[in-house]
This record gives sequence, C-alpha cells and structure tokens, in this order.
Amino acid sequence: MTQDELKKAAAEAALDFVIDGSIVGVGTGSTANFFIDGLGRMKDRIRGAVASSEASAQRLAAHGIALFDLNDVTELPVYVDGADEIDASLAMIKGGGGALTREKIVAAVADRFVCICDTSKQVDVLGRFPLPVEVIPMARAQVARALAKLGGRPVLRTGFTTDNGNVILDVHDLKITDPVRLEDEINQIVGVVTNGLFARRGADTLLLATASGVQRIDAL
Ligand code: 5RP
Repeated sequence: MTQDELKKAAAEAALDFVIDGSIVGVGTGSTANFFIDGLGRMKDRIRGAVASSEASAQRLAAHGIALFDLNDVTELPVYVDGADEIDASLAMIKGGGGALTREKIVAAVADRFVCICDTSKQVDVLGRFPLPVEVIPMARAQVARALAKLGGRPVLRTGFTTDNGNVILDVHDLKITDPVRLEDEINQIVGVVTNGLFARRGADTLLLATASGVQRIDAL
C-alpha cells in the first residue's frame, strides 16, 4: 500500500467515531483531508464542523458541510486529526502544516481526540521531526535564543505565515524524553503562541494504518 492509501484507510476508520447529529472537530493536513472527503459523503448525518485551519474550512465548505465558529459551540464530541510523530503514550508532535495553534484549541474543546496516522509517524522518542513553534513576529529572535538555550536548533520557516498572522520556528535536534515538561517550558517563553507538542492533551485514540489493516490504540 502507498502512504496515501494508508492515510486514507486511517481517515475512513475515523468516520466510525463521528456521532450522528453532532458538530465534528476537523484537523489539518493530507490525512485530515481524506477524513474531510469521507465526512462529505455523510454530511447529511452531521450538523457541521469546526475547522482547525482556513485550508480545512475551505475543503469542508467545498463539500457543503456547515462551518461553525468554535465560540458558538459548547459540545464537540470528537476531534480528528493527523500528526507528524506520535509515541506510545499518544503524545504527538504536530504543526508540520503550520496549523498547530488552532488544532490545539479545537482539540482542547473536544471530548475525544482521534489521531489518524500511518506507521511512518510512530516513534519511540519524539523529536526527529523538527518541533514547530508559533511565534509573534516581533519576538522571533528572542524566542530563537531561548529555544537554543533549551538545546534546540530553531530554523525560521521561510515564506510562511500562520492563519493567525504569526511565524513558525521549526526546532531541530531535540530529543524529547519528557514531552509534558518541554511543552510547558516552551509555552513559558514570552512571544511563543503555542508549540507543536501535544502531550498535556495527547490523543485519546490512535487509528494506525498498517499494511495489514487499521489498528486501534487507546490511551491508558
Ligand atoms: C498540520 C498538522 C498535521 O496533522 C501533520 O502535519 C500531519 O500532516 P499529514 O497528515 O499531511 O502527514 O499538524 O499542522
């Protein structure tokens, strides 16, 4: 199977988690796009969706799925999204697509985070994938110095502005043995909006697409 076929298989499996009549939290990226396309087929069974990026909002709208502002939503039973890396505790690195802040906000409201991945995203220790950090533009240099003090090698994502008007520093060379602590530490740096560690609120369920089928792994 190709990687795209695996991503699609995980995304299709996530459709079983969608509750009839509900509003669905929707992530960002190529795996989430397969989920959006599946959701399009069952759009008459849901009220609509909250999107974690402008790109996902556009794709949802193209399928005729009603979009809700998160501020108008009190119940979000499920949030479905991909990841750049995921470990055995279902902590993740996200933000390869630059949507980490909105993803973290929508995920925080949802009762259940369903992560959809192919096996290439599974790691023992997070950090091979550079950790995205969204930063207020005027704080870029000062945040980069602080990240270097934490042992990372921050690189500005060139030619990229987030949906919130900010920049991304991709932090290389981190070996993240305590993701909860590092998530907190980076969030304490003045000028950081969010970092791409989803450890305090990791996934509740991982749908992992393998060549022999989609495995369901629940957080302990
Ligand atoms: C976007 C994300 C994505 O979930 C992550 O980058 C995985 O993307 P893909 O499904 O394309 O591999 O966090 O900000």
